Amino acid sequence: MNFEFTEEQLAVKEAARDFAQNELLPGVIERDEKAQFPTEQIKKMGELGFLGMMVDPKYGGGGMDTISYVLAMEEISKVDASCSVVMSVNNSLVCWGLEKYGTEEQKQKYLTQLAMGQKLGAFCLSEPEAGSDATSQKTTAEDKGDHYLLNGTKNWITNGGSADYYIVIAQTHPEKKHHGINALIVEKGMEGFVVGKKEQKMGIRASDTHSLMFTDVKVPKENRIGEDGFGFKFAMNVLNGGRIGIASQALGIASGALELSLKYSKERKAFGVEISKHQAIQFKLSEMATNVEAARLLCLQAAFLKDQKKNFTKESAMAKVFASKVAMDAAIEAVQIHGGYGYVKEYHVERLMRDAKITQIYEGTSEIQNIVISRELLKQ
Ligand code: CAA
Repeated sequence: MNFEFTEEQLAVKEAARDFAQNELLPGVIERDEKAQFPTEQIKKMGELGFLGMMVDPKYGGGGMDTISYVLAMEEISKVDASCSVVMSVNNSLVCWGLEKYGTEEQKQKYLTQLAMGQKLGAFCLSEPEAGSDATSQKTTAEDKGDHYLLNGTKNWITNGGSADYYIVIAQTHPEKKHHGINALIVEKGMEGFVVGKKEQKMGIRASDTHSLMFTDVKVPKENRIGEDGFGFKFAMNVLNGGRIGIASQALGIASGALELSLKYSKERKAFGVEISKHQAIQFKLSEMATNVEAARLLCLQAAFLKDQKKNFTKESAMAKVFASKVAMDAAIEAVQIHGGYGYVKEYHVERLMRDAKITQIYEGTSEIQNIVISRELLKQ
């Protein structure tokens, strides 16, 4: 196993770091406070190639590997986890799913614009009564010959208000249970498609999370991804990859918390010396750094397996469950190290603490990751 990054991978990391420090950091507190979608920043991320990193250049993507994606996600998430969730959903759930399972026509029509950041994508699986229990889809896609008639409600949809193209999971043949589910590409503006209320969230507040309502939306048959009934498998496979993105987001929140804590503890004095000279602080830093490194290795392992076209289901779930716990723990410790300053917005760590929590919830709660891991273990 080679632990060295290539020059290209290091250049991607550097470019993401520069972008995050120079373009995202200045307004991040205000965007979080106002729950303001980072329109300009996302546009720039598209221009820089961060929204379709792994897509084949012939479809407007960067043609990069998943390792580069992990490195970029970490750097961007250190500073702005609201931007990085937009990036993760567009790259992992939408672009990757379309590139792997879409038809040539779907790739030409939708993927190219999504990969270039000219359009934004959303992935719509969760429902009011189907979050973790994803097979219980109530949204229906009735087969009407040349089109599907889509009816239902989706909840907690990242990019819900700002996306242009939505991959919607819906039930076509209820008697076939999850084998009767389809994945459809829905365009904003289709008649009967309404974007519902925006959620007021604890963290990742600058990302927009909405409910979506579909009433007799006519979706052309050619917008179905894969064979009839492939929708649930599509969603599961796409989520396996998506978990690498969210694990890397969690990694970035954790390593951001560590970087800020190292800096602060070398500046702040208490009892006549920098607080970094106190063993109580040193032990916290040491534990944070060790956990961050372990989380990073798990993310890179899952990315490596995906790049090698090997099964990464277990490894991506392991990366997500572990990195998200590390993010939560590291962010809480960072607030503790900062003391009272950690409790106010200016020092950034209180935001990291709020942002960290969602990484243990979306794209499968930690409990779901443990189900996925144990099922993979017991298969062997
Ligand atoms: N990879 C590939 N296939 C999988 C899979 C995986 N990880 N997990 C399950 N499947 C397949 C199974 O092989 C099975 O297929 P067959 O019937 O053909 O053999 C089928 O899916 C059903 O599986 P189960 O019988 O195991 O179904 P279940 O109901 O017992 O459990 C689950 C399935 C793993 C719990 C699944 O429902 C799940 O992953 N839930 C979590 C959903 C989730 O992550 N939601 C997040 C929403 S998206 C989001 O958050 C994005 C965002 O905005 C940031």
